[in-house]
Amino acid sequence: MNKALKYNISLVTSAFVCIVVLMSSCKTDPNSPGVEYMPDMYRSPSYETYSTNPVFKDSMTAQLPVAGTIGRGEWPETGSLINALPYAYPNTLEGYIAAGEELKSPLAKSADAAAEGKAIFEKMCMHCHGPKGEGDGKLIGTGKFPPPPPYNGPALKELPEGKMFHTITYGKGLMGAHASQITKEDRWKIIQYIQELQQL
Ligand code: HEC
Repeated sequence: MNKALKYNISLVTSAFVCIVVLMSSCKTDPNSPGVEYMPDMYRSPSYETYSTNPVFKDSMTAQLPVAGTIGRGEWPETGSLINALPYAYPNTLEGYIAAGEELKSPLAKSADAAAEGKAIFEKMCMHCHGPKGEGDGKLIGTGKFPPPPPYNGPALKELPEGKMFHTITYGKGLMGAHASQITKEDRWKIIQYIQELQQL
């Protein structure tokens, strides 16, 4: 056999092998991707968002955010992060008691914060609670409303700050809720001032 013929035969054979290999990756089904040499490249080993999932009880991969999640845009870009903190205590007696035991102010104590708290107190609380928190505000002087207990009296002198925050947030008895008017940070500032009044 001459060299040229040998060369031709090997050329034809390798071309044939190549074609067979290439053809074997094709399928007649137009929806089939054919043979996948590296399936991970096509199919993510992780779960697709809307696929079923044996890990969760309800078998869904897409889960609702856990309670207390802070959504995009709810986190303030400017201003205090305290205002973005979720308030976890419900408006119930249990929530009030739990807040009293567990909730502590995230705001550092300072004379400036207490002074700002005093300014807000004088605009929004003094007409009921009185200038020194003795329950003798102008509105009470009209005789139409029963006086709130004094901050430095037996009922409120030891009142924990968590209960104060809870009451300012949701209201209590004749006192209305102030959550929509006063930011969380300002509520903590007012509380620093009330703590001064408790000591009078
Ligand atoms: C309409 C009158 C009124 C206004 C305005 C008002 N309060 Fe009160 N507040 C009351 C009354 C009445 C109580 C007693 C509630 C009760 O124990 O039933 C009270 C109770 C409280 C207590 C004790 C809460 C507790 O857990 O026992 C705090 C602290 C307090 N107020 C803070 C404030 C602050 C701060 C503001 C202003 C942002 C304010 N209040 C505005 C009437 C008012």
